[in-house]
Amino acid sequence: MPSARIVIDRDFHIGQVPRRIFGSFVEHMGRCVYTGIYEPGHPEADSRGFRQDVLSLVKEMGPTVVRYPGGNFVSGYRWEDGVGPTQDRPRRLDGAWHTIETNTFGLHEFVDWAKAADVEVMEAINLGTRGVEAARALVEYANHPSGTYWSDLRRANGAEAPFDIKLWCLGNELDGPWQIGHKTADEYGRLAQESAKAMKLVDPSIELVAVGSSNRGMPTFGTWEHTVLSHTYEEVDYVSMHAYYQEHDGDAASFLAEAVDMDAFIDGVVATIDAVKAAGKHTKQVNISFDEWNVWYQRGLDSEDQPHQVAKEWKTHPRLIEDSYSVTDAVVVGTLLHSLLRHGDRVKIANQAQLVNVIAPILAEEGGPAWRQTSFWPFARISELARGNIMQLVVESPKVSTAKFGDVDAVDAAATRDEDTGKLALFIANRGLEDATEIALDLRGIAATSVARAELLTVPEGGDRHTANTLQAQQAVGLVPLDSVQIDDGVVTLRLPALSWAVVELETSRT
Ligand code: AHR
Repeated sequence: MPSARIVIDRDFHIGQVPRRIFGSFVEHMGRCVYTGIYEPGHPEADSRGFRQDVLSLVKEMGPTVVRYPGGNFVSGYRWEDGVGPTQDRPRRLDGAWHTIETNTFGLHEFVDWAKAADVEVMEAINLGTRGVEAARALVEYANHPSGTYWSDLRRANGAEAPFDIKLWCLGNELDGPWQIGHKTADEYGRLAQESAKAMKLVDPSIELVAVGSSNRGMPTFGTWEHTVLSHTYEEVDYVSMHAYYQEHDGDAASFLAEAVDMDAFIDGVVATIDAVKAAGKHTKQVNISFDEWNVWYQRGLDSEDQPHQVAKEWKTHPRLIEDSYSVTDAVVVGTLLHSLLRHGDRVKIANQAQLVNVIAPILAEEGGPAWRQTSFWPFARISELARGNIMQLVVESPKVSTAKFGDVDAVDAAATRDEDTGKLALFIANRGLEDATEIALDLRGIAATSVARAELLTVPEGGDRHTANTLQAQQAVGLVPLDSVQIDDGVVTLRLPALSWAVVELETSRT
């Protein structure tokens, strides 16, 4: 059986886990809001229309921060439409998703929902069709205590205390020609800089995210970040990254290795940020908000069976991009989370896109049940157990050969260790499709005393790598005990089946 070795040294780490990397995303898109988190009249809904079945799955999954309200949607959105008495709110056409927006759910409802879900709000402003004035009004509405037009309007609308939203996205994907209000890097950079300035004049405590490239394949990738940051470096705190991955033409090996792409993408953006910092003689550090990432099967447009970009008719909450995730997808999601964690010195925020129904770890039927997709599990466990320091690992692994990346490590891992509790959490995937792998942990300066938890996600009995959790079989794929973990004379070994993701939590002490 192939074998791998992982070295973990107590003194080698890259910093504390930034808990905001376990973020998610709720967009007014498809059934994420309407019949996702919010469905008045659903048997599980509370008096506010919040689905409690969905809410309890969200809490179990453990996102720390949720981006809202888009996405492409925000680039045509008037935030004022979503506040005030519900019956007075206008119905509007949402051009981004060819949908009718009823505005029965808006800022107040989202802030209430976020409180119930115990997550931080990350609010995006519209820099597609709008600009400085709407942006600063929204910050005043949300964060100013009282005594001004916008803050008193918030109070009149039922929220006496400010929302105190700290994290703000300066628009969404404005480098993309599909975006309403698409801009050149210079046009966007100037608008973002002036909006940022005006927003921070209202509330200097806010943190701002400038729009980066929509994906690494954009023709302007690199130059976009450079130009935008040249305009905004002093005003912003983060630049965004977005990436979606999918399996092409049955090439599972390359798909399973996409964390290699994510690693390189992050390294490229870090280099660009630091080049602007050096050239501009800046002393502050801009970091990364990877505020959209996931597996997304972008199969085609305009079909109600596989609706991915726009629906045919104007509807209020059409099914849009409701991907069903397999075992393979879950292993990829696990490795993408490893990549984010490995870059926790520079990636300070990350949001899996999206939270419910729309390319989501949680599915919810209108009037029916809600359940966990396969991809729910790596997110839930990493969010729960990644605490303390992010360890710098040395991994020696057998290789798998891929068409896209050449030979890559079969074993992909990330680990954290909490100095206070001594808990060491290892998150590990076997990306090989053929072979189980023996793994030995070479712990230095740390002694493993016992196994606190060891769980495995892999192909279930009778299933295959495409097995998913469906309405009919909601628990086909889940976590099962990983029985192979052994501690022998301080040496930890385990065995991972082919195509698997696992978490091992160890009690450790210093040596
Ligand atoms: O998450 C779905 C969409 O993907 C978002 O609206 C957009 O920002 C991205 O292209």
